[in-house]
Amino acid sequence: MNLPKQVRLVEVGPRDGLQNEKQPISVSDKVRLVDDLSAAGMSYVEVGSFVSPKWVPQMAGSDEVFAKIQQKSGVTYAALAPNLRGFEAAMVAGVAEVAVFAAASESFSQKNINCSIAESLQRFVPLMDAAKARGVRVRGYVSCVLGCPYEGEVVAAQVASVARELYAMGCYEISLGDTIGVGTPGKTGQLLNVVSRDIPRHLLAGHFHDTFGQALANIYASLQEGLAVFDSSVAGLGGCPYAKGATGNVASEDVLYLLNGLGINTGVDLDKLIAAGQRICQVLGKHNGSRVARAMLA
Ligand code: HMG
Ligand code: MG
Repeated sequence: MNLPKQVRLVEVGPRDGLQNEKQPISVSDKVRLVDDLSAAGMSYVEVGSFVSPKWVPQMAGSDEVFAKIQQKSGVTYAALAPNLRGFEAAMVAGVAEVAVFAAASESFSQKNINCSIAESLQRFVPLMDAAKARGVRVRGYVSCVLGCPYEGEVVAAQVASVARELYAMGCYEISLGDTIGVGTPGKTGQLLNVVSRDIPRHLLAGHFHDTFGQALANIYASLQEGLAVFDSSVAGLGGCPYAKGATGNVASEDVLYLLNGLGINTGVDLDKLIAAGQRICQVLGKHNGSRVARAMLA
């Protein structure tokens, strides 16, 4: 089997996870979560986002979180920015790397960022220019790559077209988001075969939500297709505010258990990661969404 020896985990729990929680979460709890994750060995943590607080109230105060986390050397602390304004706010907060997000479906683009796909890409141009001028790396997300909550099927060519535009604009890595977790391994493989005609596989990442319980299978299929970067969320936190019924990202603990079992190195400590996930679940008063954590804590 030709699997990568090393995988980079992109921990998105503090952003993709917490953005969807209904109850208020204190800055100190967010800070503790980020610090626990870096202490567990996560080398990339998406800490928050600089979006409109009217759209995503839970991410207000991301600047305070950045000010208070203990930044470890060798760890990338990133944030989402939907426009130049968000990018500038991120820079004021001392953010080292940002991510922009576009959708492969028109309806989702409208619901998520209130504009068409083409308009969203246009909006990223000044952001990308500002990032280039400052030497800031930008990661690109494409949402709804394996299905849309409003339109259903999304064709791979459409995903490839949006991914190609983000890549051409200067995004150093393109994360393909199965926002509503409907994908299956065969479709994942087909999608990667299409998208990788334009973008080298080592510059693609998989971002699987686990709504239909397929995320680990999709990650395994992606590993076989040569991907070596995966986004995940500790304790499976999250969902999507613009996709009813969508559950969180695949749990980081479950992905790590899979990778450990395959002998793939990540640099992350499973016990510490489980402790980080359990702690935030206690703060939120919610069930731990990681099956590995539940089994190991039983
Ligand atoms: P809009 O209403 O079309 O734009 O929102 P606007 O320019 O008219 O701005 C509306 C208000 O927001 C104004 O304030 C602006 O000043 C303010 P008001 O005058 O009403 O008081 N505003 C901002 N405030 C703070 N930071 C900013 C900013 N920009 C404008 N950067 C906008 C357009 C993009 C701003 C809005 O739709 C938005 O913020 N959307 C965010 C949606 C979001 O964060 N979704 C979740 C993340 S994406 C995701 O989860 C998917 C992913 O995980 C991958 C996957 O799973 O597929 C990445
Ligand atoms: Mg997501």
